[in-house]
This record gives sequence, structure tokens and C-alpha cells, in this order.
Amino acid sequence: MSLLDVRNLTVTYAGGAAAVRGVDLRLEAGRKLGLAGESGCGKSTLALALLRLLPAGARITGEVLLDGEDVLAMKWGRVRAVRWAGASVVFQGAMHSLNAVHRIGDQIAEPIVLHRKATAAGARKKAGDLLEQVGLPAARAGAYPHELSGGQRQRVMIAMALACHPRLIIADEPTTALDVMIQAQILRLIEQLVADQDLGLIMISHDLAVLADTCDRLAVMYAGRVVEEGPAQQVYEDARHPYARALSAAFPRIGDPASRFAPQGLAGDPPDPAALPSGCTFHPRCPVALESCAEEDPALRAAGPERRAACVLVGPPGAEAPAERATAEPATGEALREPGARGEGSAGEPEALEEARPSTP
Ligand SMILES: Nc1ncnc2c1ncn2[C@@H]1O[C@H](COP(=O)(O)OP(=O)(O)OP(=O)(O)O)[C@@H](O)[C@H]1O
Ligand code: SF4
Ligand SMILES: [Mg+2]
Repeated sequence: MSLLDVRNLTVTYAGGAAAVRGVDLRLEAGRKLGLAGESGCGKSTLALALLRLLPAGARITGEVLLDGEDVLAMKWGRVRAVRWAGASVVFQGAMHSLNAVHRIGDQIAEPIVLHRKATAAGARKKAGDLLEQVGLPAARAGAYPHELSGGQRQRVMIAMALACHPRLIIADEPTTALDVMIQAQILRLIEQLVADQDLGLIMISHDLAVLADTCDRLAVMYAGRVVEEGPAQQVYEDARHPYARALSAAFPRIGDPASRFAPQGLAGDPPDPAALPSGCTFHPRCPVALESCAEEDPALRAAGPERRAACVLVGPPGAEAPAERATAEPATGEALREPGARGEGSAGEPEALEEARPSTP
């Protein structure tokens, strides 16, 4: 059984924005999954949905199986317990997530008392141990958040996330606000903790290079859907989906000065989730779109061993090409094909927030 098995997850915000659309993902214990994509593609919404932290009025359907138990079908008492002991989230911008008027040691100790039934003294001791585990002296437990640097605060957030021994950590842009040296330290720390404690990690970032370096697998989202998924380095180095390729090309490569001085961008903006384009939602920006792409919305399909991509140009060798393919750049279309691929379709917020989950269809 997988640690996390997300099935056909869909989130629609109160105003009608379809922020996550039919996402399937799996994660095993001890593995790291990176989630990438442009701003607004639904990464944080997906992360919040996994622990039912969405604002009231958001509609969520599908299944989120954590160790086989569906988080979306749980009673609220169970959800609260799972938020600490099953899975916990590290958000971007630790200053806003920490309580400014409480000492950090007390903030780390609080869930240990509540969810692990520890004594106050036992929880304080554990808080000191956790601080040391994330590379801070236990004596810093008496500090207030404003007395720490940004990197130290982010370490405190990680210590808090580990407080109740969760099986899964969801890190949403954990290093975005930090300088590169501290960013590297925090990333190595997270990697170390995942390896030592056999945790599962979902790391969210718009930075494909960071994710490729840190994670085992990479999922690229566009307009609320996963459009490519596979081994992290392969997706980063040799993406199959035109959007994933464009995203990857936007990052300079180490050892390739040319890419550093001429990073390629992608014209246009991501679509408004309340008014998505027809067919493949990427078609208005896709450099190799076919005429049929305005009507056909391809499901994820095999794109090589352990790889999937949602593009009509990704398919098995020798399969009949769509009639319009003749109009596309032949070299580009062929470059997307994977020899041997099968062409099968496959596919710490308060609880005052999301309560209104309709029954799963
Ligand atoms: N509370 C909300 N109510 C309505 N729409 C929302 C809400 N939160 C997010 N959205 C919309 O849902 C879409 C996905 O937002 P989300 O925050 O998940 O994106 P993201 O990929 O995390 O972006 P970023 O990289 O900027 O953090 C966006 O179009 C956003 O405007
Ligand atoms: S399905 Fe068509 S529009 Fe979408 S990514 Fe593939 S080629 Fe481009
Ligand atoms: Mg986000």
C-alpha cells in the first residue's frame, strides 16, 4: 500500500475557479515527490486539499488515501489528529505561520502535549531535541520568532512539522524567501530528515532545478492538472510535454553558460481557472499545437518507463499520427515521442476553514 494515493482529486473554489482538476498521484514512504508549475497552476491548492485546509466554500472531490485511509471521508476529530501525526505542512514565509507573541519552544511543544499526550516538561524537552535536530541550539527555545533569522525560522517550522512524528511532510515553497546558501542548507536538512525517518515528502516549488536536485520524482502541473510526471532528472532534462519542456528551458543549467545567458521563456500567461480554454488548456501557448488541440483534452498517457505525459504528440512509435500532424513541425513532434512507450490512456489553518465538503461522487 502506498503512503499517499491521491485519486481524481478536484478542487473548485467558491467563485467557480477550477484550481485542481482530476489529479492522480502516488508517493511511497521514504520517497520525495516534487510538484512544479507556474504561479496559479494549483500547487498550493492541491497541498491544502490533502489535509482539508481549504477555505470554506471550496468543493473538493476524489480520494486522498493516507496509509489507505481516505482523508476526505474522515470525521473532523480524525482529520485534526492526522494533521499532526499523519502529515504536516511547512509553508512558505515562516514569520507569518509562527505566532509572534509566543516563544518558539512553546509553539513546538503545544502539539506534542495535545496530540502525543506528553507532559509539559516532556514536551519542552522534546522541543529542545527537535531544535537540535534541525541544527539550532536547544537554548533557542526561549526565543520569540522576531529574534530569529529567516533561515532559522524556517528550521523552526520544520521542527514543528516533525513534532508528532508524521509519516508525510508537505513543504510548500519552503525555501523561496531565503538566500541561496540558506536555501541549500534547508534543502539538505529536509533530505536528511526524510532519509533518516523514512518519511514521504511532497516538495512544492516553481523552481524545477531545485526539485530535480532534491526529489526522486517530479510532477509538472498546468491549469490544475498534472501534465507530466516521471523520474525527476528525466523530466527536468528531457521533458515530453511541451509545457514541461518550456518550464525546464526557463532554468539555466549548471555547466552550460549559454543557457545561463539566454534562458528561454514562454510567451503568454497561464489561463484563468474560472475560464479555461477548450481542449488542451495549454493550446493557446503551445508552440507545437495541432488544430485538434483546441477540442481534444488528452489524458495522461505512457511516455516511457515510469513516465506519463498529457499531450497528443506523446505516443507509441508507429501509431497512426493525427491528420493535422502534417501541419506541425515534424522534428518537434517526433522529438516528443518515446521509443518503446505504450500509448495507453490512463490515466496549520483553523478548522473554521473548509467544512463544506460535499460527498464524494
Ligand atoms: N481562496 C481562493 N479563492 C478563490 N480562488 C483561489 C483561492 N486561492 C487560490 N485561488 C485560485 O486558484 C488558482 C490556484 O492557486 P494556487 O495558490 O493553488 O496556485 P499555486 O500554484 O500555488 O501558485 P503560486 O506558485 O503563486 O503559489 C489560482 O488561479 C488562484 O487565483
Ligand atoms: S495536446 Fe496539443 S496543445 Fe496540448 S501540449 Fe500537446 S501539442 Fe500542445
Ligand atoms: Mg502556492
